[in-house]
Amino acid sequence: MQTVSRSIRLSARRALPTAVLTRKNHTQNSPQQTQQPEPSIRTTSFGYKTVPEESKESLVKNVFDSVASSYDLMNDASSLGVHRLWKDTFVSGLKPGRKGAVRCIDVAGGTGDIALRILDHARENYADRESSVEVVDINAQMLKEGFRRFKKTMYHNTPQISFHEANAQALPEAQFTDNTYDLYTIAFGIRNCTSIPAVLKEAHRVLKPGGTFACLEFSKVNNPLLSSLYDQYSFSMIPLLGTILAGDRDSYQYLVESIRKFPSQPDFCKMIQEAGFATGEEHDGGAWTDLWGGIACVHKGVKV
Ligand SMILES: C[S@@+](CC[C@H](N)C(=O)[O-])C[C@H]1O[C@@H](n2cnc3c(N)ncnc32)[C@H](O)[C@@H]1O
Repeated sequence: MQTVSRSIRLSARRALPTAVLTRKNHTQNSPQQTQQPEPSIRTTSFGYKTVPEESKESLVKNVFDSVASSYDLMNDASSLGVHRLWKDTFVSGLKPGRKGAVRCIDVAGGTGDIALRILDHARENYADRESSVEVVDINAQMLKEGFRRFKKTMYHNTPQISFHEANAQALPEAQFTDNTYDLYTIAFGIRNCTSIPAVLKEAHRVLKPGGTFACLEFSKVNNPLLSSLYDQYSFSMIPLLGTILAGDRDSYQYLVESIRKFPSQPDFCKMIQEAGFATGEEHDGGAWTDLWGGIACVHKGVKV
């Protein structure tokens, strides 16, 4: 049965204040106590801003609450449709269904773009109607768009698709049990998470031994000319399109900035290895495959 596993919340949580990054030490006047260094609050990036770690999740949630209804349109407009090609390449490279039905989890799955491609690929290429995808996202609005979209497909109301509201960094263990999935996918999602190692640790936990971790994400462009053209395009056009099509410049400014803060291909590869995955050799065509000169990139690892 198709499910949305938690009730969908309609209101965005308010973002926490981002300005206060250190706490005052209020014990300094006490004669009994030696002065301690000021305990600092752990911080992380939210685009180009530095924010307390604890507030990033709600800030990201606000972004996707705001963009959910225009997300698919904006994706097409801002990438001139290229995100579809990247997603096609990503999924066809995984060959879901080739060796029989697979149980997949698509994390930060949003409106279900990857899930739909996985199920279509398995059915069209291998006549597989047994493979299934559990779409997981922290944002109920994005899931709601995905659920609505799947209603128009043959997968609706079948065991092949389900939607679940959960945090990639802490998947509820009772629901997402250890050693369960053959394939874990995450597309354009991991850079929005506060702790990449926590996401990778969870991916490793829920995959079966021999299962595949696959990530599609914006990455580092190595060619200086392409990099400069890409920067000019993304920092001027994407926030502008966000204003025109979605009435929301700030969210799209964040999305562009968050891309630039994401680790380089070799650094992200190391993180995947440190989480316990085996990868190919550390170069393009090995552990990762650059798409369009590194604008996007596919990383894969196998749980050993
Ligand atoms: C850019 S969208 C990508 C959606 C979809 N995978 C795609 O490729 O079209 C990023 C998604 O990540 C989700 N997300 C952000 N932080 C998350 C977290 N900690 N856990 C789960 N999902 C998260 C957002 O809600 C959003 O739906």
